Amino acid sequence: MTIDIITVVPDLLSGPFSHSIMKRAQDKELLKVNVINLRAYTTYPRAQVDDYQFGGGAGMVMMVEPLVNAVEALQSKNKYDEIIFLTPDGETFNQKMANHLSLKNNLLLICGHYKGVDQRFRDHFVTKEISIGDYVLSGGELAAAVLTDAIGRLIPGVLNDESSALSDSFQDNLLAPPVFTRPEVFREWKVPEVLMSGNHKIIEEWRYEQSVLRTKQRRPDLLD
Ligand code: ADE
Repeated sequence: MTIDIITVVPDLLSGPFSHSIMKRAQDKELLKVNVINLRAYTTYPRAQVDDYQFGGGAGMVMMVEPLVNAVEALQSKNKYDEIIFLTPDGETFNQKMANHLSLKNNLLLICGHYKGVDQRFRDHFVTKEISIGDYVLSGGELAAAVLTDAIGRLIPGVLNDESSALSDSFQDNLLAPPVFTRPEVFREWKVPEVLMSGNHKIIEEWRYEQSVLRTKQRRPDLLD
């Protein structure tokens, strides 16, 4: 899968994909992340990409022209399954969307900045608008990093243990059960006995019960 990300702050995205699972995904050539600087596509002086909003009001707006230049240049080389604009007024991201997007080949993510993006770009180029939660970030970059991470780890072969993604929280609408590792006893706090039993069937049953219990307590909305 290839994920191209258009941004005015490419430096913000130089770190998140260079470590851990995202690095491994790229080393294995299962994922390719390209960060594209929007300023390379503007024809305005001093690499300008934003301007005052018509009608007045605080905050700058990202201009339609550099965005269209960038997207059309990329589209001449790649066919995108989705062109996703990260924005707080988009559809709220969740695991189901991550699963769905992990099956695509080419995604283009657009990071907004300033007050927003000229609506004409959203109307004519964007195929999906996604928010990562009900709060406002300074720009779409961190949201793009969240999306790329959540999607990238689901690509088959990225996680060493295939079952590991299946037992994540939110798969099956359940939160993950508690987990423990060595030592078996720490400050008199003992690991639940069932996990030391070696009986896989009752361990699985216990984990399922714990998942349901945790979901009831913390996120009853998921069980509706
Ligand atoms: N840009 C600013 N805030 C955002 C959010 N919550 N989700 C996605 N993109 C954003």
